[in-house]
Amino acid sequence: MTPADVGLRIDYFHDATDEHLAMMGVVRALLPAKDAWRRAYEEEVARPLGERSTYAVIWELDSEAVGFSSLDRLIVGEAAFMHLHVLEASRRRRGLGTEFVARSVDHYFEALALRRIFCEPNAFNRAPNRTLQRVGFRYLFSHQTTPGPINAFQTTTRWVLERESWPGRA
Ligand SMILES: CC(C)(COP(=O)(O)OP(=O)(O)OC[C@H]1O[C@@H](n2cnc3c(N)ncnc32)[C@H](O)[C@@H]1OP(=O)(O)O)[C@@H](O)C(=O)NCCC(=O)NCCS
Repeated sequence: MTPADVGLRIDYFHDATDEHLAMMGVVRALLPAKDAWRRAYEEEVARPLGERSTYAVIWELDSEAVGFSSLDRLIVGEAAFMHLHVLEASRRRRGLGTEFVARSVDHYFEALALRRIFCEPNAFNRAPNRTLQRVGFRYLFSHQTTPGPINAFQTTTRWVLERESWPGRA
């Protein structure tokens, strides 16, 4: 994701319905204002890789952006926490998420030399939990936590994918 692309990610959250935010455990009032959020992303994207704590990729289908994945709590060469989003509801549940998550983890393992990738969706949000299992992530545990700065206190499930057990995209 380049500085030119960050608007897509910001609009995704700001334009989301209350129902969609609630399903993801996101609190609208905690979303940074668009301008401040854009500046923060642009600064982060411009940093050298070794100094980054986040990273993101756009998912393109026939040259059209249809989703994105992001990493936070990134330690290059070690681990990160992944997020996954297909932008339009009409494009979900058709296999795109599974395919793009597999391609994203291939890229993350390679470009960031990660040993493991975690993902921790809301426990009651079936789509990411099913997708992670389908891609090959291993369930670790469920707990109550506030997973990030835009999130509510909630029950989450933590999944992990280890590089040494990832065969690569089939
Ligand atoms: C999560 C997401 C990226 C998955 O992508 P997708 O294209 O919908 O997923 P796929 O079509 O590849 O389906 C993968 C699995 O999830 C299941 N699934 C997808 N949507 C589902 C839903 N709404 N309810 C139940 N299961 C669902 C599929 O049946 C499939 O499971 P299976 O292997 O048991 O058949 C997408 O649904 C999305 O963007 N959701 C909204 C954003 C979100 O909640 N992100 C997670 C925040 S942590």
